[in-house]
Amino acid sequence: MNITVIGTGYVGLVSGVCYAELGNRVICVDKDAGKIAALQAGSIPIYEPGLQEVAAANAAAGRLSFTTGLAEAVRESDIVIIAVGTPPMPSGEANMAYIDQAALEVAEAMNGYKIIAVKSTVPVGTNERLRELIGSRTDERFDSISLPEFLREGSAVQDTMYPDRIVIGADNREAAATMTELHKPLTDNIIVTDIRSAEMIKYASNAFLATKISFINEIANICEKVGADVTRVAEGMGYDKRIGKSFLKAGIGYGGSCFPKDTRALIQIAGNVDYEFKLLRSVVEVNQDQRFNVIRKLEAIFSGQLRGKTIAVWGLAFKPDTDDVRDSPALEIIQYLVEAGVKVRAYDPIATSNFQAVYGKEGVVWCGGAMEAAKGADALCLLTEWDEFAQVDLQELQNTMWRAILIDGRNVFKEEDLLGTAFIYYSVGRPA
Ligand code: UDX
Repeated sequence: MNITVIGTGYVGLVSGVCYAELGNRVICVDKDAGKIAALQAGSIPIYEPGLQEVAAANAAAGRLSFTTGLAEAVRESDIVIIAVGTPPMPSGEANMAYIDQAALEVAEAMNGYKIIAVKSTVPVGTNERLRELIGSRTDERFDSISLPEFLREGSAVQDTMYPDRIVIGADNREAAATMTELHKPLTDNIIVTDIRSAEMIKYASNAFLATKISFINEIANICEKVGADVTRVAEGMGYDKRIGKSFLKAGIGYGGSCFPKDTRALIQIAGNVDYEFKLLRSVVEVNQDQRFNVIRKLEAIFSGQLRGKTIAVWGLAFKPDTDDVRDSPALEIIQYLVEAGVKVRAYDPIATSNFQAVYGKEGVVWCGGAMEAAKGADALCLLTEWDEFAQVDLQELQNTMWRAILIDGRNVFKEEDLLGTAFIYYSVGRPA
């Protein structure tokens, strides 16, 4: 099939590359000329395992190309997939400006029947609204499809090539059949629904996963008080198939480009139809508070005297295997520490420059390695569970630090790892 994907962010780029990998001819479009030039030269702007290789192979095979020329790309395609950003506005509501703009440009370029699918996460009713918008600008026939995306950063290629399910929201049988055909090589779990339900599935899925995380984080906070171990509690819960094992890792809360944005958007969507989503409000509140779990421990250890202390921070990305720092708990934690007069020594394997772009460079000592960051520190806070942190020599770490105090915000270490060391060790939801 001939496909145009509009938007080369995480979702658009990974989807475009993977549709090409399935043997389709794909044109990826973006307004950012610099980004397109880089992509044409074979450079992938995001850190995503495997993406570079798959993109290069498909570009070389002539199935994948990049352009700023939206109209021309649309004219050459049977399917147009819109995957532009829907960043949150101050109210939490998703900003539809980019999507509307893309839809209008597609409408202007129409030269025959096309399927126009929306992969961006959009409020319920958006696809119907876009259909009217496009329909008002063109006489050509087209069908609207909602095609929600469930990929995770860090495993985006894997998630796209081996998805748990594909959801197709359609109100036209032939269009649904074409989209089913396109995705058939990926999975047998293709669910065709009406358009509004498909739009809702994305929000409901992310809100549910966020709820699982906030739930286990609250259980962890209680475990700390009653002397239980949340990792064993989660394990014991997870064997129940109705609960499942995944997304029950306690820590300092979720971040990233999706959960924070989509939970707030769903609260707003519900509010717009006079429904207060009380449960989800609490999920967001718990998540906001959870990042201070680490701070509360530091305050307790140093009896509130943080000023002048040197604290090492390991991990700036919102999760491992990505350089993304959007809504990363590290942002607020570091800001709090710096404002409290702490000398922060920070290290992340790949996310430092992205972090600096959001946070700024001032007030923090940026380190090129984990041991370097720990040098002379009064305490170490582990905020992202990068593999390399689990591999460090704890004896060497202890010798590098001024005081052997380790606050593990992601429960990376086990009790036996610390045997034979002098570490005072705190984690989340486990006995100190
Ligand atoms: C998420 C969804 O998983 C994906 O389906 C959707 O398309 C986009 O949003 P992503 O944001 O890439 O993907 O990351 P994910 O791996 O889901 O983790 C999100 C956050 O939750 C991270 O900050 C992570 O540290 C945290 N998390 C995850 C936990 O704290 N505990 C867990 O058990 C799982």
